[in-house]
Amino acid sequence: MKKCSIAVLVALAFAVVAMLGTVAIAQDTKSGKVPDSFKIQDKLFKKHKKSAVEFTHKKHSVDHKLACTECHHVYKDGKNVFKDGDKVQKCAECHTSPKKDQGKMLSLYKAFHTNCRDCHKAAKKGPRKCNECHPK
Ligand code: HEC
Ligand code: HEC
Ligand code: HEC
Ligand code: HEC
Repeated sequence: MKKCSIAVLVALAFAVVAMLGTVAIAQDTKSGKVPDSFKIQDKLFKKHKKSAVEFTHKKHSVDHKLACTECHHVYKDGKNVFKDGDKVQKCAECHTSPKKDQGKMLSLYKAFHTNCRDCHKAAKKGPRKCNECHPK
């Protein structure tokens, strides 16, 4: 009986380690660790009319071969000077209005749709319809 429960415990321990292993999978960048894939559902949108958007961060930079600067930017004199190694702020830290553009600063709504959807449209690849990014 005792031997049996130890075997069960050992098996459980292995299962937990394996689970943590999959949860912890993250892309190492000079800017820090980023989960390989995550859901975008920013709390700047007080009410979410649409479901969270799955984003394959690692696939975009590694498999789709996109430069960090396709999505991350720090503007200096009108030029994007972001480089891997710089601290990354959330889009909502600069695009602080959920729905209304403020001068040249796009709303968070437009920032995401312009970045994500317009690239897919131009590339004629990747999700372009509402329900392909927002299943509900
Ligand atoms: C390429 C992916 C993509 C497509 C296509 C897309 N969206 Fe989004 N959308 C996003 C992302 C990313 C966000 C930010 C998610 C968040 O923070 O909740 C967002 C946010 C939103 C929000 C604000 C957050 C909320 O849940 O209320 C609404 C409303 C929205 N989208 C509606 C639409 C509609 C309508 C369409 C089709 C005309 C559409 N989206 C197409 C990616 C997409
Ligand atoms: C196709 C778009 C895209 C590409 C390419 C991309 N990222 Fe991101 N990255 C994002 C989005 C979107 C987020 C989530 C931002 C948010 O939640 O506001 C993010 C988040 C991050 C974060 C986590 C920030 C935090 O603390 O929440 C880091 C670090 C990061 N990216 C670094 C990089 C680096 C370095 C590269 C290039 C090797 C890169 N990213 C390429 C879109 C991209
Ligand atoms: C450090 C502040 C900052 C952060 C963080 C930031 N933006 Fe921006 N964003 C700006 C500024 C400033 C502009 C340019 C406004 C102008 O034209 O003068 C801009 C412009 C844009 C534009 C317009 C076209 C372009 O690329 O210049 C898009 C789209 C956009 N941001 C999306 C995003 C997304 C998506 C994220 C998160 C992955 C993000 N931004 C994070 C400050 C920021
Ligand atoms: C600069 C271009 C570009 C930007 C920006 C971009 N994508 Fe993509 N995306 C692609 C390409 C290319 C593919 C691959 C399509 C294929 O091969 O079928 C893709 C595919 C996808 C897929 C399908 C899964 C996968 O990785 O193959 C999802 C989901 C997706 N993108 C969501 C997003 C969201 C959400 C954003 C914004 C946070 C975003 N993308 C920003 C170019 C882009």
